[in-house]
Amino acid sequence: MRILYLDDNDYQRQLYTVYLENILDNIEVFDESSTNNALIKLKKIPNLSLVLCSNLKDGRLSEIYNYVKNNLMQVPFILLGQESPDEIPVLSGFKSHNDKNGNIKLPISPVAFRETILNILCPSRFSIAVVHAFKKIRILHFYRFNKVLCNVYIKLSDRKYIKVFNQNVLYLRSDVDKLLEKSVDFLYIRNDDFDKFHVSFSKNPFLVNTSENRSPEETAELLAITQSLMQKMVINLGFTKEVAELAEVSIGEIIKLSEVSPSIFDIIKNMRKDMNYIYDHSYLVAVVCCDILKQMKWNTPEKVRNLCMAALFHDMTLKNPEMAMIQDQSDIRLKYYSENEIKEYLSHPFEAANILANCDFASPEVLDIIRQHHENSEGQGFPNKLHPSRLSPLVCSFIIAHEFVNEIYKTDFDPALKDGIIDKMMAKYKNGNFKAPLMAFVKEHGAELSVR
Ligand SMILES: [Fe+2]
Ligand SMILES: [Fe+2]
Repeated sequence: MRILYLDDNDYQRQLYTVYLENILDNIEVFDESSTNNALIKLKKIPNLSLVLCSNLKDGRLSEIYNYVKNNLMQVPFILLGQESPDEIPVLSGFKSHNDKNGNIKLPISPVAFRETILNILCPSRFSIAVVHAFKKIRILHFYRFNKVLCNVYIKLSDRKYIKVFNQNVLYLRSDVDKLLEKSVDFLYIRNDDFDKFHVSFSKNPFLVNTSENRSPEETAELLAITQSLMQKMVINLGFTKEVAELAEVSIGEIIKLSEVSPSIFDIIKNMRKDMNYIYDHSYLVAVVCCDILKQMKWNTPEKVRNLCMAALFHDMTLKNPEMAMIQDQSDIRLKYYSENEIKEYLSHPFEAANILANCDFASPEVLDIIRQHHENSEGQGFPNKLHPSRLSPLVCSFIIAHEFVNEIYKTDFDPALKDGIIDKMMAKYKNGNFKAPLMAFVKEHGAELSVR
């Protein structure tokens, strides 16, 4: 189901986008802050299920509403805000145009918000009862551990799941190999176990290791397996094997270089041993950076090395992999962390660059990318709220690659959702030094729904 959500209040839009994305499994939210872009999207996005819109400060609510009323007659329109539609003259006749039109009066609790949206999207949901009893987990994660704390299943059909690992039982890597040979990409755990263990896409606490100490050889072998699985995932998304290999060779060389600096080498060793989101996304950012460089015809050995080095080290001081998923300081998830954790998070671009500045293999360009990897196209990033004109093309390429990885990770590498991600990025990165790398990326991976 596709929802277009137009709201010029950034905080509000971010919050309700998160709510919307968590209502049903198959919801795709196109959030937008600009009326012009929203009008373009209304024309381009097929099969919209709902339009949600706040009372826009630019006074153009009527344009959005009239477009939906005249061209998308079946699509319900929800007004989000403090006023009701009766108080807004341009919405006169609101209910009679479409009896599913409605309004959500703010503030509203997450439960009431969910109920309102569900009543519109699937009024007969209790009779169709689309309740998934299982959640999928990528098979990749099972390689990193050897014991499951809950039952694990494979899916045969929507209604049939078969248990493959029993709760509290040790499994072997060869067990996982056999499943992979049968092209099983996902295993499943029950919804209640998913909730009980607080599983998220970066954490799988139902998986453990019985002996904490892996030998260096075992770690190397596991890394090779996980890297080849990650390669498979990026190739599935349309990246080439050559690009993935270029990143891998470059990372290998950088790790070799870092051996002369014990403090850095130790951090990287631990990061690779932990094999969590911090390492995974660093590796993937390197692949996407190499792809952008290739499309830009910029793939000189020096640029490849600089971007791969920045990718490998940019989040190295973060201890919590969940924090590496947060992109900006206004993210609502930050409120769940302690004051110290937030401080550590906000200073990590500088801390990582400072550690690296002490060794002679990192160029000033690499340090700049690391220091600026949370700056953004609106000039509202951290640590310095740099104006986008001050960000170099290489920094912009890195920010684009990083955002793409972060977003595609959230979709669990679903190629079908790649277009939606690129579409959002096109609206965001159309100016300054962001434009050329983004256009190069779009040219290769172009989205059908792109706002060009
Ligand atoms: Fe970061
Ligand atoms: Fe990162």
